[in-house]
Amino acid sequence: MNRLKQFALAALCVALAIAITWQGPNTATAQDKAKKKDVALERTRDTVKMLDDVYKTAVVLITTHYVNDSDDLPAGSAAIALFEAIGKKGWHEVRLLDASGEPIEEKNSPKDEFEKAAVNQLKAGESWHEEVIKKDGKRFLRAATPIPVVLDKCVMCHENYKAAKKGEPIGALSYTIPIK
Ligand code: HEC
Repeated sequence: MNRLKQFALAALCVALAIAITWQGPNTATAQDKAKKKDVALERTRDTVKMLDDVYKTAVVLITTHYVNDSDDLPAGSAAIALFEAIGKKGWHEVRLLDASGEPIEEKNSPKDEFEKAAVNQLKAGESWHEEVIKKDGKRFLRAATPIPVVLDKCVMCHENYKAAKKGEPIGALSYTIPIK
């Protein structure tokens, strides 16, 4: 091997070594960033799960203790009023959706592609349907959870729920919440 070749080989090795050390930290930073984003998504999922439990527990408690005949204010209507107030304050959006095909109020039918896909998935037995979207450069988690016929009382106003199988979702809650 002549000197020139030796030199060229050495130069190549140095260049490679530099390239590898450059690559290292860059890749690590990109991975760190991805990890951080996932932590935010994970935290947002947890928040939705907590809200879901709070809202559903409240509806069941209110229905159990305060709703005694079909003239009483349904917990569903109270929940919708609560969702509107929370939405106006900019915390998150929640919609009470029908999954039975026969809503009391047509406005509660699944509206956009996400809600329609969510209701189909939940009816097929999934317990969670989600999608991450971007609005004005910000990330949002859209998530939907099922509502089965939790109490016999539900049938008092929703006759069609009588036909529902045990555990089958007749409704859903659909969330849109910022990922921070
Ligand atoms: C006192 C009557 C009454 C009872 C009891 C009742 N609901 Fe409702 N529900 C309503 C009314 C009225 C609406 C429409 C509310 C609106 O859009 O303002 C509604 C809306 C809903 C919706 C949205 C779809 C639709 O039909 O418009 C779901 C899902 C729902 N109720 C589930 C339940 C469940 C589950 C229970 C039992 C825990 C229950 N409801 C008990 C009266 C009732």
